[in-house]
Amino acid sequence: MTETLDIKVTKVEQTRLTVTDFSQLPFGKVFTDHMFLCDYQDGEWKNPRVVPYGPIPMSPAISALHYGQAIFEGIKAYRLPDGKISIFRADKNFLRFNKSAKRMAMAEVPEEIFMQGMATLINIDEKWVPAQEDYALYIRPVMYATDPYLGVRPSDSYTFGILTTPTGKYYSKALKVKVETEFTRADDGGVGYAKTAGNYARSLYPFEVARKEGFDQLIWTDAQTHEFIEEAGTANLMFVIDGKLVTPAVRTTVLDGVTRDTIIQLAKADGIEVEERRLSVKEIIEGIENGRLTEAFAAGTAATVTHIGEISYQGKDYTLTDPATRSVSNSIAKKLNDIKYGLAPDTFGWNWVI
Ligand code: COI
Repeated sequence: MTETLDIKVTKVEQTRLTVTDFSQLPFGKVFTDHMFLCDYQDGEWKNPRVVPYGPIPMSPAISALHYGQAIFEGIKAYRLPDGKISIFRADKNFLRFNKSAKRMAMAEVPEEIFMQGMATLINIDEKWVPAQEDYALYIRPVMYATDPYLGVRPSDSYTFGILTTPTGKYYSKALKVKVETEFTRADDGGVGYAKTAGNYARSLYPFEVARKEGFDQLIWTDAQTHEFIEEAGTANLMFVIDGKLVTPAVRTTVLDGVTRDTIIQLAKADGIEVEERRLSVKEIIEGIENGRLTEAFAAGTAATVTHIGEISYQGKDYTLTDPATRSVSNSIAKKLNDIKYGLAPDTFGWNWVI
């Protein structure tokens, strides 16, 4: 970080902590008392501030609403056994945030605004970081274009914000997923690798169709042939085939997931061979049928490590092994959790204790 920011703090008069039930925390619904905001105007970042969480006044003409110049990130902070708080690999999310900003022709956010804004906010709302097992404070950095202008061009002004929400698991059970072969999430040369609103918007209708058919999530395939697996939209996808960890290689259509990268490093450190490559639907289906594919899971900040229990392809359902018996993913998930929650040494230097 290059400089220390002067962040103006306005605190709430009355905390909502006392009326929040920490045993009922559905993902992304309960927000902490405060949020961080900073504006980009006239070529400069201005007015970094922590204010009470609440509505933000805006013009109905802002370009984020009309042309989708909006990006976000997902990070988690954990309560350590000594009561301190640790944020996991936020430096990597910061880099990806600006990669998304560049692709969406938005202003890049300086590191000190991203990192100090986050640390200041979380220290102010520190009582909101849950201490229960499998819970964390989910951190949502977001940036949107604020020019009140209907012409199609990159906005000259932006607001960068950070919201925080205490949460448990995004998925509570093994997933039943459908391989999507009609709709697509991303295409070559597009914005699939950016964490931008439109990628999520375009996935909603296909996901609703799948949800009504009884599925929890989709496996997206490539736009040209629908023969190759890409990602799940809310997470990356990983498989264990012949004892090796196999995951679709990151490309312009696949998000470069922080959890994905973390798991790859943990697996390699454990002596597990890792393959990042093109992975066909055929290989997955045949692998389930002939027993060479033993494990499948979604990996993401919100999703953490979530087993895939059943895969449906062209109307046929394929049931995978019992999640309880999956030695590779269960062992990696435990190692990952132990590091995040400070129960094992952080040998990779991933935890930022604030
Ligand atoms: C995350 O894992 O942080 C995500 O952004 C996925 C999802 C909740 C949209």
